[in-house]
Formats: sequence, C-alpha cells, structure tokens
Amino acid sequence: SESAPSICGMPLKYVSLVTLAVQNAALSIVMHYSRVSTPPSHSYSPASAVLLNELLKGFISFAVAVMRVRDHNSIPLTSRKSIGMANATPSWISCLRRVNAEIFSRDCWKLSIPAILYVIQNSLQFVAVSNLPVASFQVTYQMKILTTAAFSVALLGKRLSSTKWLSLLFLAIGVGIVQIQTSFVSSHVPESLRSEPARTVGSAHEAAPIHMHVMHPLKGFAAVFAACFTSGLAGVYFEMVLKNSKADLWVRNVQLSLFSIVPALLPIIYTTPRPDSQGIVADLFKNFGGWAWATVAIQVMGGLITAVVIKYSDNIMKGFATSLSIILSFLASVALFHFRITPAFLLGSSTVLAATWMYNQPSRKDIDMSFSEKSS
Ligand code: C5P
Repeated sequence: SESAPSICGMPLKYVSLVTLAVQNAALSIVMHYSRVSTPPSHSYSPASAVLLNELLKGFISFAVAVMRVRDHNSIPLTSRKSIGMANATPSWISCLRRVNAEIFSRDCWKLSIPAILYVIQNSLQFVAVSNLPVASFQVTYQMKILTTAAFSVALLGKRLSSTKWLSLLFLAIGVGIVQIQTSFVSSHVPESLRSEPARTVGSAHEAAPIHMHVMHPLKGFAAVFAACFTSGLAGVYFEMVLKNSKADLWVRNVQLSLFSIVPALLPIIYTTPRPDSQGIVADLFKNFGGWAWATVAIQVMGGLITAVVIKYSDNIMKGFATSLSIILSFLASVALFHFRITPAFLLGSSTVLAATWMYNQPSRKDIDMSFSEKSS
C-alpha cells in the first residue's frame, strides 16, 4: 500500500477531513446566498454551474493523473546517477498517452451510472438550497447517511449492528424535528433575503420593481430527499467500482466527469432560449457573477476533497466531517442570515449530531479486530 502523504507534516487524511467539513458548510451558505440574493430574473443558470463544475473537476483530475504517472515513472536523481542516466523522467506526451489509455479503458462505462446520479444530485441541491433555510437544508441532507446505509446493505452486502440501526432511527427522528419547525422558521426568513429590489434595468430613471425570492419548503424537502437517495446510491456504486479495480482514483474521477458532461448538457440544450438570447455560450454565462463562480469553485473543491477522503480515509470519517459542518453552517447562519435558534431546531440538530456520533462508534467486532491486529 502507498505511504500516507502529508501536508506541512500533518497527515493528508486529517487535513482532507477538516477541509471537507469547512467546504460543506461554505458550499451551502455560498450556494444559498448566490440563489436568493438576486431576483429570479437576474439569477444564473444552475445547469451552467453543474456543467462547469464537471468540466473543471475533470480537467484538474486529468492534470493530477498525468502528474502522478510522471512522478511514478521518474527515476529518483540519486538512482539516475548510479545508473549513469541524466534524464529519467518520462516525456509529457508519453504520460498523456498513458493516462488517455487508462481513461478509455474497457471498464470505463461503469462510471456512467454514478456520473448520471451525481449530475441529478448536484442539480437537486440547487432546488433544495433555494427553497430552504441553510441550516435546515444542511441538517435534512444528513438523511444521506440513512440512504448510504440502506444501499450498502442492499448492494455491498454490509451488515449493520443494532446500535447502528438505532442511531439511524435517531437520525430520522432528528431530521423530522427540524423539518416540522422549518415551516415556522421559513415564514420568518429575514427581510433582507425575502425581498430585494431588482437592479434597475434600462433607463436610470426606471423605478426598480420589488422582486421576491419566495421559498417553498415542501419543494425544498422533496429535492433534499431525492438528493439523499442519489447520494447514497452514487456513493455506494462509486465505492463498488473503486474497490473492485486497481485503476487510479484520479483516472476514475476523469471518467466520472466525462460521463457527466452529456447529462449536464441536456438541460442546457433543451431549455427554451430567452427572448433576449445571445447564443448558447453567452446564455451559459448570463448573470454568472462572483457568487456563482464562488459556488462552482467550492463545489469543484468538494468533489476533489471527497475523492481524497474516500482514498485516504473512509466513509465513517466522512460522516464525522459532515456532521461537524452542520455546526459550522448553523453558526454562520445565525451570524449571516439572522437564523433564529428555536428550541426545536436545537433539539433536532442535537439528535442528528448524537445519532451521527453513535453511528460512528466502533462496534465490538471492530475493537476485537483492531486488538487482534495489534497483538499479532
Ligand atoms: O454529499 P455527497 O458525499 O453525496 O456528495 C458528493 C459530491 O462529491 C457530489 O457533488 C459529487 O459530484 C462529488 N464527487 C466527485 N467525485 C467523486 C465523488 C463525489 O466530484 N469521486
């Protein structure tokens, strides 16, 4: 197995987990703000964001894959001197060819399933985040622990202890409590977010009409539940593909992005062009301001960190990182969006956190196994 890499002396495993928690919290806040801070007529297209995310992620993963091939095949300088070779680093062209061959290998089609599911999930996330307060979205999205467990049992044949099933039940109860009180909270969304004057269009003397960003919690929750379903299925499927082959993780990421392009393009192609359409490419970037780019950048980062977490850590630790992000985004919501702390929200969130903690406790079997590993 590969030696554990580190950044500034800290194991990459922990760096990636902490970064994932911060990324998770930052994404829901920035994405929510990017959607609700402008009137619908001035907002960017989520389909463009989903497509850009996949293109950028695929490009970065491709670059990492090529650099890894070059590093792996380079002979260290000390060894080069001993065998009398001045330059033992393979050329960029040969590295590109090798990565290309790996990407278009015979089993690449396997990534098409998680790719389609992730595109659907990433699109649903936009619907959810535009219709729910940030903290409620974040907590309800924890239901993906439940769907991941269900798909792991069904597809990977994993067995869960009774403690784990019980913690999943608590998770569902906690999410339910938050969900019930959200309909109350959403009717108290701060004025600054519920309505914002539109930027004046055309004449400078034109009065700016008041546009409302109305949230529909029911629509939001339906989108979150569907996203939890695809998250669980896509995650477990990706795990299955990774564990059943030796292909490089970064190559798998490129395959995932490549297969995402077609489903990500479909809503762009099939959207009826606006009356003021200036062509498909110009429309793609219409209203694509700083917040939209920030959303895409954080999403790209998330995809890459998720890949690193899966490789150097595991899904149990990923669950911890995500639950930490609930606290982070909750605190940020209080500060930024004047989110109200209600006793029901506190009870629901604490139940979710306690359930996440309980789920992540090692079972007796794990403890016995690690003990026997240490003593052998
Ligand atoms: O919340 P969840 O863990 O299901 O989210 C996974 C996110 O990470 C999705 O947005 C997906 O597109 C992205 N991802 C990725 N590359 C992977 C695995 C997931 O970009 N290898």
